[in-house]
Amino acid sequence: MAVTIKSPREIELMRKAGEILAATHEELRKALRPGMSTLDIDRLGEKIIRSYGCIPSFKNYNGYPASICVSVNDEVVHGIPNRHRILKEGDIVSLDAGVIYQGYHSDAARTWAIGEVSPEAKQLMEVTKQSFFEGIKFAKAGYHLNDISTAIQSYAESFGYGVVRDLVGHGIGTHLHEDPEVPNFAMKRKGILLRPGMTLAIEPMINMGRPEVVWMDDDWTVVTEDGSLSAHYENTVLITEGEPEILSLLKEDK
Ligand code: MF3
Ligand code: CO
Repeated sequence: MAVTIKSPREIELMRKAGEILAATHEELRKALRPGMSTLDIDRLGEKIIRSYGCIPSFKNYNGYPASICVSVNDEVVHGIPNRHRILKEGDIVSLDAGVIYQGYHSDAARTWAIGEVSPEAKQLMEVTKQSFFEGIKFAKAGYHLNDISTAIQSYAESFGYGVVRDLVGHGIGTHLHEDPEVPNFAMKRKGILLRPGMTLAIEPMINMGRPEVVWMDDDWTVVTEDGSLSAHYENTVLITEGEPEILSLLKEDK
Protein backbone atom coordinates (compact mmCIF):
# COMPACT_ATOMS: atom_id res chain seq x y z
CA MET A 1 0.00 0.00 0.00
CA ALA A 2 1.30 3.44 -0.89
CA VAL A 3 1.84 6.18 1.67
CA THR A 4 -1.20 8.47 1.48
CA ILE A 5 -1.47 12.25 1.67
CA LYS A 6 -4.55 13.29 3.63
CA SER A 7 -6.89 15.99 2.30
CA PRO A 8 -7.87 18.97 4.45
CA ARG A 9 -11.20 17.25 5.17
CA GLU A 10 -9.45 14.06 6.27
CA ILE A 11 -7.04 16.04 8.43
CA GLU A 12 -9.96 17.73 10.15
CA LEU A 13 -11.43 14.32 11.03
CA MET A 14 -8.07 13.05 12.26
CA ARG A 15 -7.73 16.19 14.40
CA LYS A 16 -11.05 15.41 16.01
CA ALA A 17 -10.07 11.75 16.54
CA GLY A 18 -6.80 12.92 18.09
CA GLU A 19 -8.54 15.37 20.42
CA ILE A 20 -10.88 12.68 21.66
CA LEU A 21 -8.00 10.27 22.19
CA ALA A 22 -6.00 12.89 24.12
CA ALA A 23 -9.03 13.51 26.34
CA THR A 24 -9.43 9.76 26.86
CA HIS A 25 -5.82 9.44 28.01
CA GLU A 26 -6.26 12.37 30.34
CA GLU A 27 -9.34 10.82 31.95
CA LEU A 28 -7.55 7.49 32.33
CA ARG A 29 -4.54 9.19 33.92
CA LYS A 30 -6.77 10.81 36.51
CA ALA A 31 -8.48 7.51 37.32
CA LEU A 32 -5.28 5.49 37.88
CA ARG A 33 -4.65 4.33 41.42
CA PRO A 34 -3.21 1.40 43.33
CA GLY A 35 -5.75 -1.39 43.76
CA MET A 36 -7.25 -0.94 40.30
CA SER A 37 -7.16 -3.92 37.95
CA THR A 38 -5.92 -3.64 34.40
CA LEU A 39 -9.42 -4.73 33.32
CA ASP A 40 -10.89 -1.75 35.22
CA ILE A 41 -8.73 0.49 33.03
CA ASP A 42 -9.92 -1.21 29.86
CA ARG A 43 -13.60 -0.96 30.85
CA LEU A 44 -13.28 2.71 31.73
CA GLY A 45 -11.30 3.47 28.57
CA GLU A 46 -13.86 1.79 26.35
CA LYS A 47 -16.67 3.65 28.07
CA ILE A 48 -14.93 7.00 27.58
CA ILE A 49 -14.16 6.32 23.91
CA ARG A 50 -17.76 5.29 23.18
CA SER A 51 -19.11 8.30 25.10
CA TYR A 52 -17.48 10.47 22.40
CA GLY A 53 -19.22 8.46 19.68
CA CYS A 54 -15.97 6.76 18.69
CA ILE A 55 -15.09 3.11 18.20
CA PRO A 56 -12.14 1.63 20.14
CA SER A 57 -9.98 0.50 17.21
CA PHE A 58 -8.00 -2.15 19.05
CA LYS A 59 -11.04 -4.18 20.07
CA ASN A 60 -10.96 -7.41 18.02
CA TYR A 61 -8.10 -6.06 15.88
CA ASN A 62 -6.43 -9.29 14.74
CA GLY A 63 -8.24 -10.91 17.63
CA TYR A 64 -6.95 -8.54 20.34
CA PRO A 65 -9.62 -8.93 23.06
CA ALA A 66 -9.74 -5.42 24.62
CA SER A 67 -9.93 -1.68 23.89
CA ILE A 68 -6.88 -0.51 25.82
CA CYS A 69 -3.49 -2.25 25.86
CA VAL A 70 -2.32 -2.18 29.49
CA SER A 71 1.33 -3.14 29.96
CA VAL A 72 2.85 -3.13 33.44
CA ASN A 73 6.57 -2.83 34.34
CA ASP A 74 8.55 -5.28 32.15
CA GLU A 75 5.61 -5.58 29.76
CA VAL A 76 6.49 -3.52 26.69
CA VAL A 77 3.18 -3.36 24.78
CA HIS A 78 -0.07 -5.25 24.07
CA GLY A 79 -0.69 -6.37 27.65
CA ILE A 80 -4.16 -7.93 27.89
CA PRO A 81 -6.37 -6.41 30.59
CA ASN A 82 -7.18 -8.89 33.37
CA ARG A 83 -9.29 -8.56 36.47
CA HIS A 84 -6.66 -10.37 38.54
CA ARG A 85 -3.84 -8.03 37.55
CA ILE A 86 -3.89 -5.33 40.22
CA LEU A 87 -1.83 -2.14 40.02
CA LYS A 88 0.29 -1.36 43.05
CA GLU A 89 2.30 1.60 44.24
CA GLY A 90 5.64 1.74 42.43
CA ASP A 91 4.42 0.14 39.18
CA ILE A 92 4.75 1.86 35.84
CA VAL A 93 1.89 1.24 33.44
CA SER A 94 1.77 1.83 29.70
CA LEU A 95 -1.66 2.57 28.26
CA ASP A 96 -2.05 2.33 24.50
CA ALA A 97 -5.36 3.31 22.94
CA GLY A 98 -6.83 3.86 19.51
CA VAL A 99 -10.08 5.49 18.38
CA ILE A 100 -11.99 5.72 15.13
CA TYR A 101 -13.94 8.93 14.51
CA GLN A 102 -16.06 9.01 11.34
CA GLY A 103 -13.79 6.46 9.72
CA TYR A 104 -10.49 8.06 10.77
CA HIS A 105 -8.03 6.65 13.28
CA SER A 106 -5.87 8.10 15.99
CA ASP A 107 -3.40 6.05 18.06
CA ALA A 108 -1.52 7.17 21.18
CA ALA A 109 0.25 5.69 24.20
CA ARG A 110 1.43 7.02 27.56
CA THR A 111 3.35 5.48 30.42
CA TRP A 112 2.31 6.56 33.92
CA ALA A 113 3.61 6.00 37.43
CA ILE A 114 1.39 4.44 40.08
CA GLY A 115 2.09 6.50 43.18
CA GLU A 116 5.79 6.98 43.90
CA VAL A 117 8.13 5.10 41.59
CA SER A 118 11.94 4.77 41.66
CA PRO A 119 14.06 7.61 40.24
CA GLU A 120 15.29 5.11 37.62
CA ALA A 121 11.74 4.35 36.49
CA LYS A 122 10.93 8.06 36.38
CA GLN A 123 13.93 8.73 34.17
CA LEU A 124 12.98 5.88 31.82
CA MET A 125 9.50 7.36 31.38
CA GLU A 126 10.83 10.88 30.81
CA VAL A 127 13.49 9.78 28.35
CA THR A 128 11.00 7.67 26.39
CA LYS A 129 8.67 10.66 26.07
CA GLN A 130 11.53 12.98 25.18
CA SER A 131 12.83 10.53 22.56
CA PHE A 132 9.52 11.04 20.74
CA PHE A 133 10.04 14.82 20.83
CA GLU A 134 13.64 14.42 19.65
CA GLY A 135 12.32 12.34 16.75
CA ILE A 136 9.66 14.79 15.66
CA LYS A 137 12.21 17.58 15.34
CA PHE A 138 12.69 15.83 11.98
CA ALA A 139 9.01 15.21 11.24
CA LYS A 140 8.90 17.98 8.67
CA ALA A 141 8.58 18.19 4.92
CA GLY A 142 12.02 17.75 3.36
CA TYR A 143 13.44 15.32 5.91
CA HIS A 144 13.41 11.56 5.43
CA LEU A 145 11.82 8.97 7.67
CA ASN A 146 15.20 7.73 8.85
CA ASP A 147 16.01 11.16 10.31
CA ILE A 148 13.18 10.62 12.82
CA SER A 149 14.24 7.04 13.56
CA THR A 150 17.88 7.96 14.07
CA ALA A 151 17.08 10.85 16.42
CA ILE A 152 14.89 8.64 18.63
CA GLN A 153 17.53 5.93 18.87
CA SER A 154 20.48 8.22 19.56
CA TYR A 155 18.66 10.03 22.32
CA ALA A 156 17.44 6.87 24.08
CA GLU A 157 20.75 5.06 23.74
CA SER A 158 22.66 8.03 25.17
CA PHE A 159 21.06 7.01 28.49
CA GLY A 160 22.17 3.40 28.07
CA TYR A 161 18.65 2.21 27.26
CA GLY A 162 17.62 -0.50 24.80
CA VAL A 163 15.48 0.54 21.85
CA VAL A 164 12.99 -2.19 20.92
CA ARG A 165 13.57 -3.43 17.36
CA ASP A 166 10.78 -5.95 16.96
CA LEU A 167 7.93 -3.42 16.91
CA VAL A 168 7.68 -0.14 15.01
CA GLY A 169 5.44 2.88 14.46
CA HIS A 170 3.31 3.25 11.33
CA GLY A 171 1.32 5.41 8.99
CA ILE A 172 -2.30 5.90 10.08
CA GLY A 173 -5.55 7.19 8.56
CA THR A 174 -8.54 5.19 7.38
CA HIS A 175 -6.65 2.19 8.78
CA LEU A 176 -4.86 1.79 12.09
CA HIS A 177 -1.75 0.54 10.34
CA GLU A 178 -0.79 2.10 7.02
CA ASP A 179 2.53 2.47 5.26
CA PRO A 180 5.22 3.45 6.01
CA GLU A 181 6.67 1.55 8.95
CA VAL A 182 8.27 4.01 11.38
CA PRO A 183 11.23 2.36 13.18
CA ASN A 184 12.62 3.85 16.38
CA PHE A 185 16.15 2.94 15.30
CA ALA A 186 18.36 3.88 12.37
CA MET A 187 17.97 1.95 9.13
CA LYS A 188 20.56 1.66 6.37
CA ARG A 189 18.30 3.47 3.93
CA LYS A 190 16.99 6.98 4.39
CA GLY A 191 13.34 5.98 3.96
CA ILE A 192 10.58 7.98 2.33
CA LEU A 193 10.74 11.73 1.86
CA LEU A 194 8.29 13.37 4.26
CA ARG A 195 5.53 15.44 2.69
CA PRO A 196 2.79 17.66 4.11
CA GLY A 197 -0.41 15.71 4.69
CA MET A 198 1.28 12.48 5.79
CA THR A 199 0.09 11.17 9.15
CA LEU A 200 2.33 8.94 11.24
CA ALA A 201 1.99 7.13 14.56
CA ILE A 202 5.44 7.57 16.09
CA GLU A 203 5.89 5.31 19.10
CA PRO A 204 9.22 4.71 20.83
CA MET A 205 9.27 1.58 23.03
CA ILE A 206 12.31 1.85 25.29
CA ASN A 207 13.73 -0.73 27.73
CA MET A 208 15.84 0.10 30.74
CA GLY A 209 18.08 -2.85 29.83
CA ARG A 210 18.59 -4.78 26.62
CA PRO A 211 16.46 -4.16 23.51
CA GLU A 212 15.35 -7.79 23.10
CA VAL A 213 11.72 -8.69 23.72
CA VAL A 214 9.75 -11.95 23.87
CA TRP A 215 6.09 -12.81 23.37
CA MET A 216 4.14 -14.42 26.21
CA ASP A 217 1.99 -17.53 25.75
CA ASP A 218 -1.13 -15.37 25.27
CA ASP A 219 0.44 -14.45 21.89
CA TRP A 220 -0.02 -10.74 22.61
CA THR A 221 1.85 -9.50 25.66
CA VAL A 222 5.38 -8.44 24.73
CA VAL A 223 7.88 -8.42 27.62
CA THR A 224 11.54 -7.51 27.92
CA GLU A 225 13.73 -10.58 27.66
CA ASP A 226 15.97 -9.46 30.54
CA GLY A 227 13.03 -8.53 32.80
CA SER A 228 13.94 -4.83 32.82
CA LEU A 229 11.28 -2.09 32.89
CA SER A 230 9.93 -0.74 29.63
CA ALA A 231 8.13 2.48 28.65
CA HIS A 232 6.06 3.50 25.62
CA TYR A 233 5.09 6.93 24.32
CA GLU A 234 3.12 7.46 21.13
CA ASN A 235 1.25 10.16 19.25
CA THR A 236 -0.43 10.55 15.90
CA VAL A 237 1.51 13.25 14.05
CA LEU A 238 0.67 15.31 10.96
CA ILE A 239 3.52 16.40 8.69
CA THR A 240 3.16 20.00 7.54
CA GLU A 241 5.40 22.48 5.72
CA GLY A 242 6.61 23.71 9.10
CA GLU A 243 6.38 22.28 12.60
CA PRO A 244 4.61 18.94 12.88
CA GLU A 245 1.13 18.97 14.39
CA ILE A 246 0.72 16.43 17.19
CA LEU A 247 -2.90 15.43 16.70
CA SER A 248 -3.29 13.31 19.87
CA LEU A 249 -2.09 15.84 22.45
CA LEU A 250 -4.34 17.90 24.70
CA LYS A 251 -4.60 21.52 23.50
CA GLU A 252 -2.78 22.77 26.59
CA ASP A 253 0.15 20.41 25.90
CA LYS A 254 0.59 21.51 22.27
N1 MF3 B 1 -0.22 1.21 19.14
C1 MF3 B 1 -0.29 -0.21 18.82
C2 MF3 B 1 0.11 -0.37 17.39
O1 MF3 B 1 0.26 0.58 16.73
C3 MF3 B 1 -1.60 -0.75 19.13
C4 MF3 B 1 -2.09 -1.97 18.42
S1 MF3 B 1 -2.66 -3.04 19.57
C5 MF3 B 1 -3.83 -3.99 18.88
O2 MF3 B 1 0.35 -1.44 16.89
F1 MF3 B 1 -4.43 -4.58 19.82
F2 MF3 B 1 -4.66 -3.28 18.22
F3 MF3 B 1 -3.25 -4.83 18.07
CO1 CO C 1 0.62 2.50 17.06
